[in-house]
Amino acid sequence: MRTVFWENNELKMIDQRILPARFEVVSYRSHKDVAFAITDMVVRGAPAIGAAAAFGLALAGYESASSSTEGLLADLGAAAAVLKASRPTAVNLAWAADRLMRVAYSVEGSANELRNAVLAEAQKLADEDVEINKRMAEHGAALINDGDTIIHHCNTGALATVDWGTALGVIRTAHEQGKRIHVLVDETRPRLQGARLTAWELEQYGIPYEIISDNMSGYFLKAGKAQKVFFGADRVAANGDVANKIGSYMLALAAHDNNVPVYSVVPTSTIDLSLAHGDLIPIEERNTDEVLGIQFHGEPVAPKNAKARNPAFDVTPNRLLSGIVTENGVVYPPFEINLAKVVR
Ligand code: MRU
Repeated sequence: MRTVFWENNELKMIDQRILPARFEVVSYRSHKDVAFAITDMVVRGAPAIGAAAAFGLALAGYESASSSTEGLLADLGAAAAVLKASRPTAVNLAWAADRLMRVAYSVEGSANELRNAVLAEAQKLADEDVEINKRMAEHGAALINDGDTIIHHCNTGALATVDWGTALGVIRTAHEQGKRIHVLVDETRPRLQGARLTAWELEQYGIPYEIISDNMSGYFLKAGKAQKVFFGADRVAANGDVANKIGSYMLALAAHDNNVPVYSVVPTSTIDLSLAHGDLIPIEERNTDEVLGIQFHGEPVAPKNAKARNPAFDVTPNRLLSGIVTENGVVYPPFEINLAKVVR
């Protein structure tokens, strides 16, 4: 089953807030509800939220009562703005909304033809995401050796995309090729996408894994117990600086210090050539309840009035990356030159 799909005139999505305790699919008929679902992380992961925004725009088309194309385009433009504002860091969101708006403006025909064209483009974007992930996975799997132990951060699997996955898709393909792989799964505080979602996916695929808390990766890297680090990205700047789930930077630093290669796996839709370097990438700061809400032995971990911070992403500088895996091949340094080639 896909993470994000269109069925019976509704957008359906696996509810990632409650996995692995419960598997539920939720349905959406309004773009505003889709925007809230993205903010609330019913759906998360850069390519998955791009696809959700695309189908959200299709819903906006059917929600609009306008019988003129001009009126419909105005309603779609307003909906695109709402969807793009739902999370700031992953560029796939704006990329998907802008792609659909370009198609909308290019349609010559009635308002109903425009509505159907927007839905058709959303479906095309979702189908392409799966195909792109499988191409990336083939390129990335070639970097993995039989017997490798890999540290993986956050969730980058089928749940973070329409299907298959980015970094976890690479691991899944290498496993299907018969390579014996062991995955050390960073639990990924504060929302625990590793412990909850990546571990759940690895169980489905029969890939051996162990969960580690995020602060353990340095130990395993220094002890020579991990041969590769793989993670995804929410936005890659033109120079190869990579914004990804908070903790990726510390992981890459520890890997680099121990000569362990670090790969970020991204569709080219995640590469933002308009930003020269990673300091220009907007970093989402989320509600501190995500940090303070965790319990230990059934009790809150922090004093009642504790304050916290919750940046959801950090930027790994390009010097710490060995390569960036895309659907068009693996990009190596100098990234400021080679990334632009692969995007074109
Ligand atoms: O906050 P999330 O769960 O949406 O963050 C997701 C990640 O950081 C992923 O690593 C990233 O989107 C790339 S994987 C498709």
